[in-house]
Amino acid sequence: MAYENILVDRKGAVGIVTLNRPKALNALCAALIEELGEALTDLEGDDAIRCIVITGSEKAFAAGADIKEMKDKSYADVLDEDFITGDWEVVTRCRKPTIAAVAGFALGGGCEIAMMCDMILAAETAKFGQPEIKLGTIPGSGGTQRLTRSVGKSLAMYLCLTGDMIDAETALRAGLVAKVLPAEGFLDAVMKVADAVAGHSLPVLRVCKEAVNVAYETTLAEGVRFERRVFHGTFALEDRTEGMEAFAAKRKPDFKHR
Ligand code: CAA
Repeated sequence: MAYENILVDRKGAVGIVTLNRPKALNALCAALIEELGEALTDLEGDDAIRCIVITGSEKAFAAGADIKEMKDKSYADVLDEDFITGDWEVVTRCRKPTIAAVAGFALGGGCEIAMMCDMILAAETAKFGQPEIKLGTIPGSGGTQRLTRSVGKSLAMYLCLTGDMIDAETALRAGLVAKVLPAEGFLDAVMKVADAVAGHSLPVLRVCKEAVNVAYETTLAEGVRFERRVFHGTFALEDRTEGMEAFAAKRKPDFKHR
């Protein structure tokens, strides 16, 4: 499939989607979002893929929704088309693990797309922010919600109300990112993490991420009950048997993703 705003690559069991509108710092225009959705749907349906990396350039993961494209829209327009809803949320519907690999700017919708992924790995050069307030609007794709759950109220308020950016180390301390990696060789280091994830059993990866995500939606007691049922459920999988037998036999497991 030929895309104009993204690149798609497959390395082993990892699918890599590179946002590729360098002249606009990967601003998330409708065409790019549509292509991202198609690529993710494709990778979700590809049995050989067990982890998906979304990344950008050295300068920008994405500098947000495309301001030039949305500046002339009226309230009726955005309401009518339900602007920035189902098409953007395709990232949250992935059942395979997703990693946002962020170098440079992840602003506005760029930060929001990164936060929709299961984890964020940041290059030392990464900068995160929700600058919508400077445009006379507010985050529109989960920024006020996912950021607050991730870093807490005070820092989320700071970012949303000032529009300032934070660097990778600050994002790490706040819990927004899982790891900060050197800018040089960033994607190779990201691939090591992605390969490690993709080396596990796909059905177990799927239910594991589902269980972690339930923590955002429910009480502790209900979440633990859900986790316990899913944990018990893994005992129905061939891969759970193989994983434990391999440990006992001091060999590497040979998962069949069943
Ligand atoms: N939309 C459209 N075009 C954008 C863009 C965006 N979000 N961000 C950058 N660009 C374009 C610039 O207009 C410029 O294009 P031209 O060369 O044609 O002028 C090009 O990308 C390079 O940008 P700059 O010259 O501004 O680069 P810089 O290095 O000086 O500054 C920056 C980088 C600080 C990221 C700056 O570009 C910037 O502030 N961008 C806007 C960030 C922003 O406000 N994002 C939030 C968007 S709203 C949103 O995302 C809503 C939501 O919640 C979904």
